[in-house]
Formats: sequence, C-alpha cells, structure tokens
Amino acid sequence: MSLKNAMTADFLRSAYGGESMAHMRYLIWGDSAEKDGFPNIGRLFRGVAYAEQVHATNHFNVMKEQVGDSTVAAGAVFGHTNIVENLQGAINGELHEIDQMYPVYLETARFQEEKDAQRSFHYALEAEKIHARLFQEAQNSAKEGKDIRSETIYICPVCGFTEIGDEVEKCPVCGVKKDLFKAF
Ligand SMILES: [Fe+2]
Ligand SMILES: [Fe+2]
Repeated sequence: MSLKNAMTADFLRSAYGGESMAHMRYLIWGDSAEKDGFPNIGRLFRGVAYAEQVHATNHFNVMKEQVGDSTVAAGAVFGHTNIVENLQGAINGELHEIDQMYPVYLETARFQEEKDAQRSFHYALEAEKIHARLFQEAQNSAKEGKDIRSETIYICPVCGFTEIGDEVEKCPVCGVKKDLFKAF
C-alpha cells in the first residue's frame, strides 16, 4: 500500500482517531448498558465497537508506510449519563460520519486517486449507515424501558459490515465468507 497525497493522509489519520475513540466509547457505553439491565444493547455496543476497530485498523494499514508521529484532530462525542442519552450520542456520531465525514473523505480519495484509502473509507461509510439504524432501533426500545432482541450480532472482520441474525451468506460489502464473521 502506498499513499501519495497529504490531504488523503490527513483524512486517514483523522478517521483513525475518530474510529479509535468510537471503539472505546462503545465499550464504555456497553458496560454501562449491561449494568443498567440492557444486556442485548450492551452486546450491540460491543459488536459495533469491534466494527469500529476494523475500520481503525484498515485506515492504519493504508498508512503503514507513513512512519512517524502526528497530532490527530478527530471528532469525538462525550457524555456518559443514561442509556437513552448514550444511544443518542452514538447516533449523532454515526450520522456525522455518514452525512459529513466519510462522503467528503471518500470524494477526496477519489479525486487524488488513492485506491486503498477509497476502499477503507467506503467500507466504513457503508457500515456506519447500518450502525446508525441499529442504534436508533435500540434507542426506540430503551425509551420504552425494553432491551432489544437477543439475536446474535455478526461483524465482518474485513469491512465492519454489521448484521443482526443469520441472513447473509457472504458480506454484501466486501464479499468475505460468513464463516469468518465475528459473532457477539
Ligand atoms: Fe459505526
Ligand atoms: Fe465485509
């Protein structure tokens, strides 16, 4: 993998920072959901935390030849209050990535003909659309004091595609076989 353009490199570093923080935030909110009596929403947070780790790893690997230190500015959501508010924070973070961040980063990588960065941004954008929907559904349940259903959550280890239940044979985004998916 090689990277030629500074602006795409900046966007990769920022996306890496954002995904890393989302990963940690979802683990924190997942523990909290479990303690508050919503074990399945806790599991959703942990599954999606893994998907964000996949994205962070992909971005990091595209930059593997960019050796050295950088200070990274990246979007971060703060707040650790109750499950409904935590889910709102998760929804807001995902929507920022879907509506602002990844479309712009992807367009820049396309313009700069950075194929590896395009793939990495595309994978993340597609997964975040699913995450926003799943967190919204979870919040609708939590507002009524109910947990989500107890089905297994599957995460693609290549692109972070996220699926509840057992419906896909291979990843619809990157094509990897379902047997490789990580289950939560
Ligand atoms: Fe996400
Ligand atoms: Fe995938």
